[in-house]
Amino acid sequence: MCGIIGYIGNNNPINILINGLKNLEYRGYDSAGIAIKNEKELQVIKSVGKIVNLEEKIKSLKVIESNLGIAHTRWATHGKPSEENAHPHTVGKVTLVHNGIIENASELREKLVKEGVIFHSETDTEVVAALINKYYEKDPVKAINKTLKEVKGSYALGILFIDNNHLYATRKDSPLIIGLGKDENFIASDIAAIIDYTNKYILLEEGEIADITKDKVVVTKDEKEVEKEVHTTNMEKDAKDKCGYEHYMLKEIMEEPVVLEKTLKPYLEDLNKLPSLTDYEEIHIVACGSAMYAGMIGKALLEEYANTKVEIDVASEYRYKNIIYDRKTLVILISQSGETADTIAAMRKAKENKVETLAIVNVKTSTIARESDQKIFIEAGPEIAVATTKAYILQVGIMALLAYKTALTKGLVKDNDKVLEDAKKLPRLVKEVLDRKDEYKKIAKEIYTKEDIFFIGRKIDYATSQEGSLKLKEVSYIHSEAYQAGELKHGTISLIEDDMPVFAILTDDTIKDKTISNIEEVKSRGAKTIIISNERWNTNDLQVVVPKISEYFQPILIVPTLQLIAYETAKLRGCDIDKPKNLAKSVTVE
Ligand code: G6P
Repeated sequence: MCGIIGYIGNNNPINILINGLKNLEYRGYDSAGIAIKNEKELQVIKSVGKIVNLEEKIKSLKVIESNLGIAHTRWATHGKPSEENAHPHTVGKVTLVHNGIIENASELREKLVKEGVIFHSETDTEVVAALINKYYEKDPVKAINKTLKEVKGSYALGILFIDNNHLYATRKDSPLIIGLGKDENFIASDIAAIIDYTNKYILLEEGEIADITKDKVVVTKDEKEVEKEVHTTNMEKDAKDKCGYEHYMLKEIMEEPVVLEKTLKPYLEDLNKLPSLTDYEEIHIVACGSAMYAGMIGKALLEEYANTKVEIDVASEYRYKNIIYDRKTLVILISQSGETADTIAAMRKAKENKVETLAIVNVKTSTIARESDQKIFIEAGPEIAVATTKAYILQVGIMALLAYKTALTKGLVKDNDKVLEDAKKLPRLVKEVLDRKDEYKKIAKEIYTKEDIFFIGRKIDYATSQEGSLKLKEVSYIHSEAYQAGELKHGTISLIEDDMPVFAILTDDTIKDKTISNIEEVKSRGAKTIIISNERWNTNDLQVVVPKISEYFQPILIVPTLQLIAYETAKLRGCDIDKPKNLAKSVTVE
């Protein structure tokens, strides 16, 4: 959700800022802009659409000499995507870029208008610029501090003042780091934006203000200086390259065997490294999007095989619901980015109620990773494609191991050795499944011209269907819905028409026969069924058959097939696969 980069040093900032924006483009991509400055002048250039449009525009203009600048890529919240609404915003002496949402913007705007401020955009960001400008006399940090006391909401801000050549930054509920280079420093909403220049960084905490020059970073909170720890990331420079793949989505799917090995190995060697869910009387799983669907798999496994009751909710609901915490509860938060605003709010709600939290998270420096009581890191590395693939698989892998450990502790596992052996085989088996691209291309050819598709499954196969359906709709824009196979006939079956594709997920031996009947129901109404199963069926349907393994890990062989079908379908439809319209990878606003 919106990306920020800033630079101060000895070099011309334009290439650094543009390169950084391209690395952040997954956070939002409806408009972009930069502000560059020198001792005397400041120049702002903005453009609608992708970063390349901004790049082209800059090339066509005469730009000032500079060695300081800020830049932004936007995912619209307040005001439509347009040059006026694109960041940076300037009011008086202040120019800034902003991620997040200022919740009391209209109130503040009204007051400022009465005081004579003329606004040029519909954004909440311009209000912050106006406030800082109002309080700015000589001391930038004082003016920022005063402003922060008045604004409510979330923000990461990169700020320039016309009559001073420093770079300022502050944040609350939206990530921002300070990258440390030699005779140059950076700000960025994600280390990926600056990894080509430095691997050293400082994490800015809530309400801290950084005053940055090329050789010094002074961080204060309430005008008192704060000592900051310098961190080093082990992210590889090429981790964000496509490595010859046509799209990040494909590259990231193909990485699944390697990241599975890396993530699961330590726990397969010693399950005691995982937290013990049997210490709690109640488990809540809270997440958004695909992470929530990974949680659904966890719930299905915990209930079915570990006899453990689990409540699951999307974070945007959980945070506002009256949750009754009357038993010893563990709240499991699942998030790739660790910065999803609703999931953060759910975590804080649990903490306020003195309930323990466990995060399953990819980004180690993220808010969720830092604030949660217990954490399990998945080792996905940077995930750039907006639609998550490898991180989802790892979230499912961890949930499966947690369920298995719980079942083991309760003495419920029948064939212990087989489960562990199967878990160790996963990287090889996933690779085998991924290597069968021609099968997925064939299915994609069958479905890419359709406008409506259904996925059906029961129990864990329904949870898997949900991710398959989400992946397909988000990258190919085909309307798709996942249904519990037995429920479709209670209304929705009226939508089934001749040749409408229906994917049936069929892996759970306890319920396969029932789903087979549901397949017959839709087929007799004209649907074209595609069966994704762990055994071959004697029918004339299109089928994908994956190896049959322990129930705990079966979804990890099914979902990659659905990810590749979604990818190939989106490709045939000419979609912008890595950056689907209207989406952002990390939704840091409510
Ligand atoms: C956004 C993304 C989804 C993602 C969800 C949760 O909506 O587009 O792909 O599943 O956020 O993100 P998180 O980083 O918390 O896993």
